[in-house]
Amino acid sequence: MAKATKTFSCTACGATYNKWSGRCDGCGEWNSIVEDTPLSAGPARKSLGGKRGSAIQLTDLSTEEAPPPRTHSGLGELDRVLGGGLVPSSAILVGGDPGIGKSTLLLQAAARFAQAGLKTIYVSGEEASAQVRMRAQRLGLSDAPVKLAAETNLRDILTTLEAERPQLAIIDSIQTMWADNVESAPGSVSQVRAAAHELTSFAKRKGISVVLVGHVTKEGQIAGPRVVEHMVDTVLYFEGERGHQFRILRAVKNRFGPADEIGVFEMTGGGLAEVGNPSALFLSERGEPSPGSVVFSGIEGTRPVLVEFQALIAPSPHSQARRSVVGWDGSRLAMILAVLEARCGIPFAGLDVYLNVAGGMKVQEPAADLAVAAALLSAREDAALPADTVVFGEISLSGALRPVGQTENRLKEAQKLGFSTAIAPAGGKAKGGNGLTLRQYGDLATFVGDVFGA
Ligand code: TYD
Ligand code: MG
Repeated sequence: MAKATKTFSCTACGATYNKWSGRCDGCGEWNSIVEDTPLSAGPARKSLGGKRGSAIQLTDLSTEEAPPPRTHSGLGELDRVLGGGLVPSSAILVGGDPGIGKSTLLLQAAARFAQAGLKTIYVSGEEASAQVRMRAQRLGLSDAPVKLAAETNLRDILTTLEAERPQLAIIDSIQTMWADNVESAPGSVSQVRAAAHELTSFAKRKGISVVLVGHVTKEGQIAGPRVVEHMVDTVLYFEGERGHQFRILRAVKNRFGPADEIGVFEMTGGGLAEVGNPSALFLSERGEPSPGSVVFSGIEGTRPVLVEFQALIAPSPHSQARRSVVGWDGSRLAMILAVLEARCGIPFAGLDVYLNVAGGMKVQEPAADLAVAAALLSAREDAALPADTVVFGEISLSGALRPVGQTENRLKEAQKLGFSTAIAPAGGKAKGGNGLTLRQYGDLATFVGDVFGA
């Protein structure tokens, strides 16, 4: 039998070691390394010694048991991101930059869920109850049947939840909570982990849905190297640009619905308002057709969203030309520049390239490749694409254009917003008609020659 070896791990960052040391090499934390005690440890035993759990056949599961009903907040954009309403006893993490509007969103959601009949409690560790009440007043929610608590001690919060027995508890924020059995400051990784673990497991046991609010650190992570993300069923990020009014709630993980779904809100004087037609909003600042501007017909979650890509190209004063991207993937941009050079003979050496998605939207689909290429060429050739054109398609390294999913939805959305031409890859299920002209290309070089005469 192999000799049982001891293992150690860091309670702060999770790094594992085969011997103890005072300081973790992974995160630099002192006294954070403890010995792991696996369940099977100890003197050689025949069994683990635990109670035998029961396993059942998948096919034996009763199909008559209907899934528990979801509660709708009435905020359509929020319900959609949750996968069609709130699932009972689920744990949700809402992350975002400080000041982006998480407390505003969740206070509004708390009021809506309470009005929909859920017993709701809003626990604030950042503001006194009076301040939360003032905010609720400003939002016109002061008569919603929501209970408020201002607490940071985890033990007190669990006692409150035990006594109140709510169906939904909102914890704002997880970084302000502290467990008195953990010796580190609130906001530290071990505190955040302990608080999140206590709250989610307590909530699951008692049938309470919990929403944990988490501030995102500068590196774009919720403090506690994503440990909280693994403990919850659903992870939502609330994003937006400071200078813009609108905010996007994005599902990055969801056990009860599609990930990548987005909800769009607008921050107004009276709180967050739903935006029913995001495409119209993202395109609202568009002016006359200008070189470098191209409209992309994208899919976010289950619905189409039109966004504008903007490119600017200028001779570089530096020996190393700049590549700057906002709202799109930098390495994907490098790939498209390389394909344009290798397959179409269009060099970008010595030129600074700036690429931006208008309005602060973040696009992640490879389907935007062709729109990006079109924006780059349009900027380079100083030739604007007609304003009534949308573009989409994936570019492969060979320079071939690949059809993308949900073509019909992309075309329908373009049509709905008054576009009359769509540029798309050949093949796939694309169909024109209904006032929409479809121009299809099999490879990038033909597209470049036809559209830009280059
Ligand atoms: P807040 O919800 O406190 O952000 P977070 O909890 O994510 O830190 O929102 C703060 C910002 O929202 C603040 O800059 C003011 C703005 N705001 C409005 O524009 N309208 C409103 O009705 C409210 C309540 C806030
Ligand atoms: Mg807040």
